[in-house]
Amino acid sequence: MQIKVLDTTLRDGEQTPGVSLTPDEKLRIAIGLDALGVDIIEAGSAITSEGEREGIKKITEEGLSAEICSFTRAVQSDIDAALDCGVDSIHLVVPTSDLHLEHKLRKTREEVLLQAVDCTQYAVDHGLLVELSAEDSTRSDIDYLKEMFNQGIQAGAKRICACDTVGFLTPDTSFKFYKELSKLKAPVSVHCHNDFGLAVANSISGLKAGASEVHATINGIGERAGNAALEEIVVALYSLYDIKTNVNIQLLYETSRMVARMTGVYLQPNKAIVGENAFAHESGIHADGVIKKSETYEPITPELVGHQRRFVMGKHIGTHLLKKRLEELGLKVDEKQLMQIFQRIKSLGDMGKCVTDVDLQAITEDVLGILQEKIVDLEEVTIVSGNKVIPTASVKLKINNKEILEAGVGIGPVDAAIIAIKKSIADFADITLEEYHVDAITGGTDALIDVVVKLRYEDKVVSARSTQPDIIMASVEAFLSGVNRLLGDKFTAEDLT
Ligand code: KIV
Ligand code: ZN
Repeated sequence: MQIKVLDTTLRDGEQTPGVSLTPDEKLRIAIGLDALGVDIIEAGSAITSEGEREGIKKITEEGLSAEICSFTRAVQSDIDAALDCGVDSIHLVVPTSDLHLEHKLRKTREEVLLQAVDCTQYAVDHGLLVELSAEDSTRSDIDYLKEMFNQGIQAGAKRICACDTVGFLTPDTSFKFYKELSKLKAPVSVHCHNDFGLAVANSISGLKAGASEVHATINGIGERAGNAALEEIVVALYSLYDIKTNVNIQLLYETSRMVARMTGVYLQPNKAIVGENAFAHESGIHADGVIKKSETYEPITPELVGHQRRFVMGKHIGTHLLKKRLEELGLKVDEKQLMQIFQRIKSLGDMGKCVTDVDLQAITEDVLGILQEKIVDLEEVTIVSGNKVIPTASVKLKINNKEILEAGVGIGPVDAAIIAIKKSIADFADITLEEYHVDAITGGTDALIDVVVKLRYEDKVVSARSTQPDIIMASVEAFLSGVNRLLGDKFTAEDLT
């Protein structure tokens, strides 16, 4: 069995409060979705604005493999706007519940039915493929809904879609509902919202009942609690139901990160499939199991979705994981030293702290009585920032008694400082900042700021932290501590001067 995926990240997903994409951002996301292998991209709603039309046109002109679709109401001007953008199809939407008809549209069932049929015919006559969609269909009179779809199909609609607009279905009712609609003479799409956290389960129930297309968004973004999450549906179908899609599962994590970055809607760490903790292990028992055989505590491998396994050092850690991490970091300890480090990590955990690689390095060096050479030392950092100046930073670093002065500009003072440091060491190392997390530990404007960074140098990744009252200093110190850790394994200070 194979089902089609309509991705609506650029339409329903963009309706997430606070999200607004530029035409170029829409294009970049559409290119990512096309590479991911979705069958249909709902690129937006052409009638919405000039910028929206520009974005949809850019997408249709890109020559992607996916079918490009615009949302329209049953209004001729909406369809003309979609035609103007060169889309392949429209997602033509009419409300069908009495609630929406009476209180929102203030129209009768007959009026809306006529409008839907007329607009379907108009769009088909103009060469568009029509997916006729019923808004709030799950709270509609089922006979009226079927009549709407039947007449729409007669007018030329090639697919029908029943929207669970307010997430009203349950997996049981979803199965019955979509089974009934699957008896009609056109392929049915499932479109579920997540108000009760059931969007993915309801979508899968609908597909099991006979629907052949699913609407979803990357990361489940959308109005209120969002839409059904594409990555969860696709991987559950693949792994648990043996139902295929054209989606290239290995690109899911990368696509999720791209959409999070472009929309500014970041994920909760425990988000299924693509969350940062989806394949992270801390507890000793779990980490030990996963190291021995990953299936013990992972239903799928992180590689399947392009993600990575991560072991976290905290108070639940076990000695197996600790030993493994120390080995990976090239730190040799005996059993007694291992237990000392183990206890130190546990006590830090009891104080509410997780241990970064740099913390682990420092604890281990302390236990071993060695001091790792600090390759790059910070002498000075000066920041200029304000409402009418471009944030600028100058840094003075010392490497083997040689001073290096550099300046950088950025979108904010922290960015400027990190750019200045990266420039100062660019001659010998291209270090990338992969993650940056900031947390205010105490309340008030004098709060202690905890910055944790994840840095990459070639194929090596380390995390590092600094906790200080000043966010810029915390960021700079965390970055430099990671840099020292990464470079320290490869160079001595003399090598770099
Ligand atoms: O959820 C919904 O009802 C929709 C329609 C407007 C298509 O997204
Ligand atoms: Zn929706």
